[in-house]
Amino acid sequence: TLLDTGDKPLAGKKAIVTSGPTHEPIDPVRYIANRSSGKQGHAIAAELSQLGAEVTLVSGPVIIPDPKGVKVIHVERAEEMRDAVLSALPADIAVMVAAVADWRVASAAGNKIKKQPGETPPSLLLTENPDILKTVGHHAQRPKLVVGFAAETQNVAENGRSKLERKGADYIIANDVSPETGIMGGDRNRVKVIGKAGDEDWPEMDKQSVAEKIARLIASHFA
Ligand code: CTP
Ligand code: CA
Repeated sequence: TLLDTGDKPLAGKKAIVTSGPTHEPIDPVRYIANRSSGKQGHAIAAELSQLGAEVTLVSGPVIIPDPKGVKVIHVERAEEMRDAVLSALPADIAVMVAAVADWRVASAAGNKIKKQPGETPPSLLLTENPDILKTVGHHAQRPKLVVGFAAETQNVAENGRSKLERKGADYIIANDVSPETGIMGGDRNRVKVIGKAGDEDWPEMDKQSVAEKIARLIASHFA
């Protein structure tokens, strides 16, 4: 191209990244959550910024610090995450890394649920949360490149590819989150990159290195 983008191949591009878990309230003091640490999503946001992108990171509740050079919007619930992501459109790139809770409590209690002596414990009625990746992947303002993750404990390739198609993504980064892999919450990751043209297995490496490779892969689409 005529532009010399040097080591900032994503200069002038806008990216939205989701990261971390969501917390879905049961009552004012209790919630449903999952084991996501936000490490992989935050590292990807930082790497896209390193490559020159203007990054909005929509993060669920995590204990790790905000990455430098990135605009961070902190949210708690899936619906709040969806709203924040849609507010950040239009964008050139969307990378949906968050472990969004699939269900929320249909009607969270306004007050703390109390034990009732002698009564059976309460049951939770759940309802499905919005699918943020699928919404973005089919949006009128769909970013040019949409990347999702797939957390699986079995049939990683098949399940990942069906998510690619169903959600309208360009890539699905699939990983095996079985407890024995230590990926969920850990510092390392081993992923299968599922694209329209085929699959690629990356060797196990730290989440920082996975983030660098994903950011480079994204940048290659804007060369
Ligand atoms: N995702 C999302 N919104 C949801 C659920 C998932 O944006 N409500 C995104 C995740 O951020 C990830 C991708 O969709 O990029 C796949 O998430 P995953 O949990 O693996 O898939 P699901 O479609 O929720 O299916 P399941 O959990 O049943 O495997
Ligand atoms: Ca899910």
